[in-house]
Amino acid sequence: MGLEVVSPAMISFSLFLLLASTTQAQSNGVFDVTKYGAGKDITEALTTAWKSACASTKPSKVLIPSGTYWLRKVTLAGPCKAAIKLQVDGILKAPVDPNKLSGGHWVNFIYVDQFTLSGRGTFDGQGKNIRFDYITNALVRDITTLDSKNFHVNVLGCRNLTFQHFTVRAPGDSVNTDGIHIGRSTGIYIIDSKISTGDDCISVGDGTEELHITGVTCGPGHGISVGSLGKYPNEKPVSGIFVKNCTISDTTNGVRIKSWPALYGGVASNMHFEDIVMNNVQNPVIIDQGYCPWNQCSLKAPSKVKISDVSFKSIRGTSATPVVVRIACSSGFPCQKVKLANINLAYRGPGGPAKSQCSNVKPIISGIMSASGC
Ligand SMILES: *[C@@H]1O[C@H](CO)[C@@H](O)[C@H](O)[C@H]1NC(C)=O
Ligand SMILES: *[C@@H]1O[C@H](CO)[C@@H](O)[C@H](O)[C@H]1NC(C)=O
Repeated sequence: MGLEVVSPAMISFSLFLLLASTTQAQSNGVFDVTKYGAGKDITEALTTAWKSACASTKPSKVLIPSGTYWLRKVTLAGPCKAAIKLQVDGILKAPVDPNKLSGGHWVNFIYVDQFTLSGRGTFDGQGKNIRFDYITNALVRDITTLDSKNFHVNVLGCRNLTFQHFTVRAPGDSVNTDGIHIGRSTGIYIIDSKISTGDDCISVGDGTEELHITGVTCGPGHGISVGSLGKYPNEKPVSGIFVKNCTISDTTNGVRIKSWPALYGGVASNMHFEDIVMNNVQNPVIIDQGYCPWNQCSLKAPSKVKISDVSFKSIRGTSATPVVVRIACSSGFPCQKVKLANINLAYRGPGGPAKSQCSNVKPIISGIMSASGC
């Protein structure tokens, strides 16, 4: 009849085998992928190890030891029964052929609470990226990501997620390769990290609240950006952005807030940039409410995004262009409560000295202001 007859004895025998192999593969809560039959390609082994670790009622760790491995598209999902760590000491390489991955992303962590991703390893995206979706109470430490396409790391719907000693590297001429993009997330910390890329080092999308960026070095790239905002309907407010003690070098922008003209409304408030060193940055301090790349929009109507309670304090170093501060707010919704304090930015090229430009804003200026005009 073609039906397989499975006896209770066979079931218990295979259960026994399964338990035996699981017990062998893990010891003290460590699930080593190389014990799950990982060859050069660890996709299946990682998936199986993750599932076993995730089902563990005690804290567990999945280990990818030193070595170089191929990893195809993978989703590592929770919820898990207890805290879970993924320690990557090896180099993980994505498939070179972009057709092997639909949707662009490569490694997706989703719905995991109490998660730690750490190790001296590297995610070598070869044009693909890593996503963190709905991750809570988590830490990403020491890991490096290389050569992604589009955003390297995309953070969506996360709460209390820290990136520490995190490294992102892509060539300065790569297109749209934002280092870390954050959207609709609360309590994200990016600490002591190093980002060199072809687009924004860090970009902040709508619905981001309580974002703390400290001790980050950025460059090359397009700087640290809030926005662009106002391109889509129903964007959620951005609020509580704190960027402190960062060094930005050889980038097109330093610290920037940008919104599209015309189009849709939005709110961005309580954003503070302090203690930032600029080295040879083209637009060190910029609010641009007429952001309209590739002429994708009409500049005839002003932006509908309301920007308020913004401060730039102790911003020093060098600019690559004469306009070191440019605050171009919407004529429809002028910026409110913008503070500039101790701005000491030098420009030494043609067309100098350094100057500042402001429109639709009355900034409160205090301390040093090395560039007149606002
Ligand atoms: C945030 O997550 C960390 C784990 O990285 C945890 O130790 C800490 O207690 C969490 N904070 C809150 C307020 O839940
Ligand atoms: C500032 O950031 C650098 C890393 O760029 C770090 O080494 C230093 O400890 C930070 N200083 C403070 C006061 O946080």
